[in-house]
Amino acid sequence: MPSFDVSPASPAEAQADLLMLPIFEGRRPGPGVEAVQKALKADLMATLKEHRVRGKVGDTFTFPTLGRIRAKTVQLVGLGSKDEAGPAAIRRASLKAARSVAKFGTVASTLAQVGNDPGESARAFAEGMALGSYRFDRYKERPMDEASQEKPRLRKVTALSDGNRAAVRSGLARGQVYADAANWARDLVNTPALDATPAFLADEARKMAALRGLRCKIWTKGELAKGGFGGILGVGAGSVNEPRLIELTYRGGGTSAPIAVTGKGVTFDSGGLSIKPAEGMEWMKADMGGAAATLAAMRAVAEIGPALNVIAAIPSAENLPGGSAIRPGDVLRHRGGKTSEVLNTDAEGRLILADALAYLVEKNPRVIIDSATLTGAAMIALGLDLWAVMGSDRSLIQDLLAAGEAEGEPGWELPLWTDYRRHIESSVADVKNIGIRWGGAITAGLFLKEFVGDVPWAHLDVAGTAFVEHAGEFWPRGATGSPTRTIVRYIEAQAERDPERPAPRKRRS
Ligand code: BES
Ligand code: ZN
Ligand code: MN
Repeated sequence: MPSFDVSPASPAEAQADLLMLPIFEGRRPGPGVEAVQKALKADLMATLKEHRVRGKVGDTFTFPTLGRIRAKTVQLVGLGSKDEAGPAAIRRASLKAARSVAKFGTVASTLAQVGNDPGESARAFAEGMALGSYRFDRYKERPMDEASQEKPRLRKVTALSDGNRAAVRSGLARGQVYADAANWARDLVNTPALDATPAFLADEARKMAALRGLRCKIWTKGELAKGGFGGILGVGAGSVNEPRLIELTYRGGGTSAPIAVTGKGVTFDSGGLSIKPAEGMEWMKADMGGAAATLAAMRAVAEIGPALNVIAAIPSAENLPGGSAIRPGDVLRHRGGKTSEVLNTDAEGRLILADALAYLVEKNPRVIIDSATLTGAAMIALGLDLWAVMGSDRSLIQDLLAAGEAEGEPGWELPLWTDYRRHIESSVADVKNIGIRWGGAITAGLFLKEFVGDVPWAHLDVAGTAFVEHAGEFWPRGATGSPTRTIVRYIEAQAERDPERPAPRKRRS
């Protein structure tokens, strides 16, 4: 991860290998461009025109400076329409630009000068740069870049700013916390299931918690059995890698009711005895994306130190068809006593989440938020750019949608259409784990709803957004960290909104 800094230096004098400057749609120069054109004695806008570069979000064009200014290279970065350019465009543009600037080592930029809130602009800039420079090359003998050349790392990013330096500095720091957390979630998701077992996730959580002063309790298989967590145990029964429940507690809000979070931590989803076809398993190491995002959100919360309480209970199991696996027709007894009939062992996420939700309800939280790579149906409904949200509480759903939008990690609501409850009515248990073919994201949501009592609750189905199968303009192939930043943003907004908050906790990092 690069380090971030603010400097009042003028672009022409900035000390960096690469100088990154914004332009707007229609080749309108952004902050610093005119001064640099003068210093270079060159009409960069004319060159853009010759190359048909208009300045839409994500456009980049690179010039050598031939020793005329300090930076050896200038990169113009498109931000789209000048009137609309703000944090969202800055985040997207730097996310994309950062993917190809590692070779420069150090970057200085005026991107954070765009927009009317310097703190928010700086935050989006840092987030984009840190997310964009993410690499997952731990499993390569020699780390390589996308063009298979030897790869240096982006080490240092300087925001050039003449304005409010304190706001810019804290914006950069906040953006970095968010992106570092999301990148950690990406590491966890990208790690193959051979290594990323439930015990591994629990160890990672424990280390993270110890470094940041979170309370951490890991429930082992024996403890889960004593506690009545039949869903987690059932799903994990076919694997030699035993299941876990990861419980994390953040205290910043005195005795007030906590925000509760959970996430699906299926470290590999083969489907179990209802086994998936081979192609359906290619990405199933990523079936713990909801758990990873929830862990990462706890990490960011611990670093930010908001004035409220947050509790996480994250179930993790490996869904394999070993000789001791659960079978279609089995009935599991969940935490708290409700039972479910397992008609398809591939609808396993809801089975482990049911236990976690029931457990969190016991903590009398103010809300519960779960994130899960739960259904292919959510991907069919909304595609790969949007997570689906369903829930029992209007304002919770609105706040989550707003948080996602603010983070450039958008979602869309699906209805929890209660008439469809009939599709998961079981003749032998309280509920069954599959519905009919149609509306599969909704019947999965309705299944979860059985376990949340009357606690305001929202469920994020991130099957489409947690990882990218084909590299695109903004994300490389692999994990995205979604919805880490949405959850953190939501929690931060709640802390700011709270009228009767106790004194903020001391920040630790
Ligand atoms: N983990 C999958 C959902 C999934 C599919 C996530 C593709 C990401 C990409 C989940 O456990 C699953 O298998 N769901 C089934 C449910 C069905 C059996 C009711 C599905 O969506 O087909
Ligand atoms: Zn799954
Ligand atoms: Mn499954």
